[in-house]
Amino acid sequence: MMQILIGYMGSGKSTVGKVLAKNNNLMFIDFDDYIVEKENLSIPEIFKLKGEIYFRRKETEYLTELLSQKPEAVISLGGGTPCFGNNMEVVLEATPNVFYLKLSVDKLEERLQKEKAQRPLIKDIADKELSEFIRKHLFERNFYYLKSHHIISVANETPEEIATK
Ligand code: S3P
Repeated sequence: MMQILIGYMGSGKSTVGKVLAKNNNLMFIDFDDYIVEKENLSIPEIFKLKGEIYFRRKETEYLTELLSQKPEAVISLGGGTPCFGNNMEVVLEATPNVFYLKLSVDKLEERLQKEKAQRPLIKDIADKELSEFIRKHLFERNFYYLKSHHIISVANETPEEIATK
């Protein structure tokens, strides 16, 4: 049965998703990759050339397209996917297995500090302001994330341990 992973940037959705898919003999679909393939542009290119509003419009369009095919897969969504329009309702209706990988602001900051460059939403934020940005952003997004069927708290576990949870 379809399983969907959501959570903030850097929460490990794709890494855990791959393990989960393998353990359950399911396909793995990274939704960012799905968008990249459809648009023939990388995520940073889409943001740079077309803008965030275009990205969000396409994200919503492709989400409906993908989920209506009811793939037997583990799907990791983009950090913002559940947080626009009625995407979270669409996600919750597609499967009873929506998992939120919940990490602390400190853990997210530690991970994102290293890989800011590839992420259009945080690439221009100064190192010392990243933590405050994540705190506020996560507070807003938790409104959506916390509607998940299952909330998985993640600290220092391995992807295998998280997949088992
Ligand atoms: C975004 C998260 C990214 C990607 C885009 C926007 C967000 O996905 O979809 O850069 O709004 O949080 P990951 O969560 O896989 O990094």
